[in-house]
Amino acid sequence: MAEIRIRNTNERIKGEDNVRQFLGNNNVIYEHWDPSKLPAHLQENFALSDDDKNEILSTYDGEIRDLASRRGYKTWDVITLSEATPNIEELLKKFENVHTHTEDEVRAITAGRGIFIIKGDENTGYFDVELEAGDVISVPEGAPHFFTLMDNRKIVAVRLFIEPEGWIAQNYDDPTFVK
Ligand SMILES: [Fe+2]
Repeated sequence: MAEIRIRNTNERIKGEDNVRQFLGNNNVIYEHWDPSKLPAHLQENFALSDDDKNEILSTYDGEIRDLASRRGYKTWDVITLSEATPNIEELLKKFENVHTHTEDEVRAITAGRGIFIIKGDENTGYFDVELEAGDVISVPEGAPHFFTLMDNRKIVAVRLFIEPEGWIAQNYDDPTFVK
């Protein structure tokens, strides 16, 4: 279950109803897939072969197609990041820039953990959404954000795209953002 930390106040928001309400108020779609559906050999496995990735996609085929039909996604894939990922330090540094996209950024976490840092309205400011297996989130189109890993530095996620070619990050220089 996702948890929220509001950076300006350090307030934490926990519990399904509270998290859903907060994210809904900030136009962030939040859903949940059953993480126990994954076969045991794919749970908390971060060294995935192409067959493993395809098995993750087929395990959640119903959920993926349901989300895609509601939201217009046309393609999907599986990404994994861990200490075994080449250039992980460089990649993470590259990720940690606030940016926007011209379509929403949807991720379904199937193993590990990760954080989306998203800019809310003027009053809220930036908030962290801490994600774990089963959490499905969509950062709205145009919302300044970035993604990083948590302490265990491991994640597997399904990504869904409307236009894979058009999914480009635009840097968002924000003097109000404090790391
Ligand atoms: Fe992004």
